[in-house]
Amino acid sequence: MKGIILAGGKGSRLYPATRAVSKHLLMIYDKPLIYYPISTLLLAGITEILIISAKGQMQSYKALLGDGAQWGVTFSYLEQETAAGIAEAFLIGEDFLAGDACALALGDNIFYGAGLTGMLQDLADTRTGGSVLAFQVHDPQRFGIVELDAGGAPLSLEEKPANPRANWAVTGLYFYGPDVTEVARSVTPSARGELEITSVNQAYLDRDELNVVRLPRGVTWLDAGTFDSMLEASQFVQTVEKRQGLKVACLEEIAWRRGLISDDQMRALAASFNNEYRDYLLSLLRQPG
Ligand code: DAU
Repeated sequence: MKGIILAGGKGSRLYPATRAVSKHLLMIYDKPLIYYPISTLLLAGITEILIISAKGQMQSYKALLGDGAQWGVTFSYLEQETAAGIAEAFLIGEDFLAGDACALALGDNIFYGAGLTGMLQDLADTRTGGSVLAFQVHDPQRFGIVELDAGGAPLSLEEKPANPRANWAVTGLYFYGPDVTEVARSVTPSARGELEITSVNQAYLDRDELNVVRLPRGVTWLDAGTFDSMLEASQFVQTVEKRQGLKVACLEEIAWRRGLISDDQMRALAASFNNEYRDYLLSLLRQPG
């Protein structure tokens, strides 16, 4: 399975902060926002990743992430001309996907919690139909919403409904079979002129091929799309990291723990920092086992 991270959009909701810098490069506590969705894909076992950015911003992403070899992964880059909708990712990424199954992670979504890795790996192994993760929220008008029956099967989907039928938000991490490009091509723009990811999910639901996994209470999902949610996400990461002494979404650590890089490569990465990030990486190497 291949992965796409969608990190485009003008970020105009965050002006002036994002006038010259992409939202996904702003920091969430101690690392850029885009590290978090990258960590999600790495935890799912995905190492071939396409990063889609807004026009004119590709160089900044390349400067930050390079070709991925430092973490034992491969990054490709493409631009999205205009923010024409999340589902456009599959059309932009058609050659990259080359008929493979795909996980799409929105560049501003953060997942963290117990049992998440196993859940993500199971979804990445499915490779057929569509799978989404649902998270219970108190403000369902802000999200794509899925209504579920008593057994947890999806009944209906709505994008930012004024009168939501449920409070299960569809989070920004989607897993699809190799037919996703074809499905995305069949979707027509919504009233607001976007190729909606909810329309792609609706197409899978219509064929009875949409699998919805409800995130348990122990897993946190944050959508860092506003000033407040970015600050809250930073405070969440700070709290977890300070209490446990373990970093959230530390790409070097994930790559090393998954055997994508060796101890020596980890040591070399550590040497490229001169702060507590270096001390953290070196401390991992000293831990028994
Ligand atoms: O965060 C989950 C929600 O994400 C879902 O519940 C919704 O169903 C889904 O439509 C989406 O809603 P948002 O209002 O959060 O979407 P937003 O326009 O903020 O875009 C999400 C991310 O995708 C953001 O990092 C920018 C990027 N993006 C978005 C669009 C529409 C692009 O790169 N290109 C685009 O064309």
